[in-house]
Amino acid sequence: MQVIQQRQGVASPSQAARRPSRPVAVRCENAGSSTRPSSISPQPNRRQLLSAVMAAPLLQCLPWAAGRPAAAAEIGGEGPRYLTPEQQAAIDGVFAAVMPKSKAPVMVRLVFHDAGTFSAATGDGGVNASIRFELDRPDNFGLKRGWNVIEAAALRLKGTAADGIVSKADLIVLAAAYGVRITGGPAMRVAVGRLDAAAADPDGRMPELDFSAQQQLANFADKGLGAQEFVALCGSHTLGSKGYGDPVTFDNTYYKTLLAAPWTDKKNEMAQHTGIATDHVLADDPTCRPLIQRYAADQPAFFRDFAAAFEKMSCVGVQWA
Ligand code: HEM
Repeated sequence: MQVIQQRQGVASPSQAARRPSRPVAVRCENAGSSTRPSSISPQPNRRQLLSAVMAAPLLQCLPWAAGRPAAAAEIGGEGPRYLTPEQQAAIDGVFAAVMPKSKAPVMVRLVFHDAGTFSAATGDGGVNASIRFELDRPDNFGLKRGWNVIEAAALRLKGTAADGIVSKADLIVLAAAYGVRITGGPAMRVAVGRLDAAAADPDGRMPELDFSAQQQLANFADKGLGAQEFVALCGSHTLGSKGYGDPVTFDNTYYKTLLAAPWTDKKNEMAQHTGIATDHVLADDPTCRPLIQRYAADQPAFFRDFAAAFEKMSCVGVQWA
């Protein structure tokens, strides 16, 4: 790991954690990961194959953890790592050029739909940029404009300090984190090193629009995400045009609106169109309601829990280069 840090100029997670006034670090400590070398592009090299075969799922997300196979560490390069300030600045510069604030909502939705194919039960799917092969699925309606941003960003990165450093899957996560930041949400530092898939992930893993709250919770549980993480992540529905507030302001309006339930106002036609059916059922659910009340009353708590949940979601199913 030290060799890699010297060669690539990356900071270790423990160094990063000690620095003052850091954004929340997206470190991938708790997320599930899978080993599926055959669907990964570019062809895995010896280092990547060794990493995939040798590292247990949790250890793949914990390069600094005790017990990591020594051989993999000596070969070096594998596992999540952080961008240098120069690389992060290059990436931010590119997003500033290709991603106006109005695109922030679709970028945050894009990372969820790339991650959302992960199933802990089968150990496949996850954050691997397979979304590019899945844009025709009804679930993914409207996400082509998000993918276009990723393509444009990848092109613009050529010749910058971040050229060749990040995969398309990393860019999807970085773009979402950037979108959250520029709309006023928590600043999150993203680990990079995800491998891109060469084919679509299995279909039928995204939550259905008529799911009950408990069905949604079960769907997220199979992605390795618990109730608190589910409710915190859904807070990003405050972005976009579903009537939760300013479409490009990331705040806790979503939770306040769920408690007010404006869609039940029979006299107000406009208010009845606020939100989507899967949101409407959450405030009546005994598991979700206390979390909704907490985030409605305490925006900093929402930001903290959102950042932690985003970290976990951004690593589900990931194979690290
Ligand atoms: C049960 C879970 C979820 C369901 C059923 C769901 C469904 C939807 C639907 C139907 C839309 C409207 C799309 C449109 O008309 O443009 C939407 C928008 C959005 N979703 Fe979700 N979503 C879920 C969870 C999440 C999560 C976990 C995230 C993020 C981590 C997320 C992020 C977003 C964002 C940011 C938008 C606004 C996109 C835009 O305006 O372009 N959603 N979601």
